[in-house]
Amino acid sequence: MARGRGEARSDVVITPADQPIRVAVLGAGNVGGALVSLLLTEGDAIAARSGVRFELAGVAVGDVARSRPGVPAELVTGDAKGLVSGPGVDVVVELIGGLDPARQLVETALSMGRPVVTANKELIAACGAALADAAAGSGVDLLYEAAVAGAIPIIRPLRESLAGERIRRVVGIVNGTTNFILSTMSEQGLSYADALDEAQRLGFAERDPAADVDGHDAAAKAAILASLAFGSVVVGTDVPREGISSVDPVDIAFADRLGYVVKLLAVAERFDNDGPAEGGPEISVRVHPAMLPRTHPLAAVRGAFNAVFIEGAAAGELMLYGRGAGGMPTASAVLGDLIDAAHHLRSGSAGRVVPRSGARIRPADELLCAWYLSIDVADRPGVLAAVAQVFGAHEVSIRSMEQVGLGDEARLIFLTHVARAGDVRRTIEGLRQLDVVDRVGGVLRIVGDQDDD
Ligand SMILES: NC(=O)c1ccc[n+]([C@@H]2O[C@H](COP(=O)([O-])OP(=O)(O)OC[C@H]3O[C@@H](n4cnc5c(N)ncnc54)[C@H](OP(=O)(O)O)[C@@H]3O)[C@@H](O)[C@H]2O)c1
Repeated sequence: MARGRGEARSDVVITPADQPIRVAVLGAGNVGGALVSLLLTEGDAIAARSGVRFELAGVAVGDVARSRPGVPAELVTGDAKGLVSGPGVDVVVELIGGLDPARQLVETALSMGRPVVTANKELIAACGAALADAAAGSGVDLLYEAAVAGAIPIIRPLRESLAGERIRRVVGIVNGTTNFILSTMSEQGLSYADALDEAQRLGFAERDPAADVDGHDAAAKAAILASLAFGSVVVGTDVPREGISSVDPVDIAFADRLGYVVKLLAVAERFDNDGPAEGGPEISVRVHPAMLPRTHPLAAVRGAFNAVFIEGAAAGELMLYGRGAGGMPTASAVLGDLIDAAHHLRSGSAGRVVPRSGARIRPADELLCAWYLSIDVADRPGVLAAVAQVFGAHEVSIRSMEQVGLGDEARLIFLTHVARAGDVRRTIEGLRQLDVVDRVGGVLRIVGDQDDD
C-alpha cells in the first residue's frame, strides 16, 4: 500500500513515486542561488532524467531585503530554523557555510528524520562523524558530495565504488584559488602578489584570500578525504598545513628547469599496508606546496581546476578531474545528492554508513620524502663545504647541487635524497646558524618521484 508524505514506517518516511520531493534550501548565495535556478528552470528535464520531481518548500537567507533575481520572493524567508522544522519538507539542503548556524540547522533536520545535503566542508571536517551518527540514528542520508572539489564526484566513489579497496594514498589539488595563482606564476612568470591580484580581478580569489592561500580550505577537504579513504575520524584541526604565500617565482622557475611543477597538495597517506594495529590505521594527512614531476597526471591540472589522484592496492591509480568551485558546478553536485536522497526516501532506505575507527597520525617529523632547498650564501671559498657539512651532520643526503651567481652572493639549489622531515628541519635550523648563509629561501617537498615511495 502506498504511504503519504509524513506517514512513518518505523523512523523512516516513505514518499511515493508520484509525489514531488519538497526541498528546503538554506542559503541562496553562489551555490544556493544556482541550485534554486536549476530546480526552477530545469525541473522537467531533471524529472525526466532522474524520475524525481522537486518542489521548493522555501529558501532561507540572511538578509530577506536583498533583491535575488531568479528566486521567487514568496519562497524567501529569514527564519531558517522555522523552515527546517516546519511542515511539508522532505529534504534539507544546507548552503549557508561555516559552523553556526549551519550545525544546529543540520542537527535539527536530522533529528526530525529529514535527510540533509550540504556543500559545507568546514562543517563536515569539524563534526562530520557526529552528524553521520545522527543521520544513521534517524535512518536518513547525510550527503556532502559538493564539499570536496565542487563538481568532481569524489565522495561517492570513495564511499561506494572504492568501498572494498585498500587505499594507499590520496593526493589532491583541491583548492582552485591556489592552483590558479601557482599556474599563473608558472606560466606568466608573475610574483605571488601579482598572481593573487590577477586571481582576485578574475573572481578566483576572495578579497580576503587567507582561507585559500594559507591552506585552511584544503586542510578541511584533506580531513574529509582521509576520513573516507581510511575509515577514520580525521578532523580539520588534525591536518598540518603550509600555504603558498612564500613560494617564490625563482623556485617555480628552478622547478621548471628541473622537470617539476609546483602545486599545493592535500595528501592523505596510509602506512600500515598489512592492516591496522590497535587504535586504527597509521596515516598522515597534510597540506603543503610541493614539486611534482611534470610527467605526473596532477601536473597537468592548470588554472582553477581541481583533481584527485588515488592509489589503491587492487585498483591501481585513478584520477578524477574537473571544476572544483563555482555556483553551477557545485550546484550540480548538490543536485546529484538530492536525487540520491529522494530515491532513498522513496524506498525507505538511507545511503551507506561507512564504518569508522580511530587513526594514529604519524608525527610530521617522521615523514619521508625528497626535498628542494634554495640557500643564498656568500660567494667565497669554503662556503660549500660548510653548507654540505650541515646536511651531513643531520643525515640528509644531497642528490644534486647547482650554483647560480648573484653578485657578491651565490644561490645554491639542493635536491636531496629521501630524508626524514625532522632531519631536514634541523638542517635548515643549522644552516641559518652559519654566518655565510644569508637566507634559506624556498623549501619544497618533492612528491611523486619513483624513489619517494
Ligand atoms: N562557492 C563555491 O564555489 C563553493 C564550492 C564548493 C562548496 N561551497 C560551499 O557551499 C556553501 C555555500 O557557499 P556560497 O559560495 O554559496 O556562499 P555565499 O555565496 O556566501 O552564500 C551564503 C548564503 O547563506 C545565507 N545565509 C547566511 N547566514 C544565514 C542564516 N543565518 N540563515 C539563512 N541563510 C543565511 C546568505 O544570505 P544572504 O544572501 O542574505 O547574504 C547567502 O544567501 C559553503 O559551505 C561553501 O563552502 C561553495
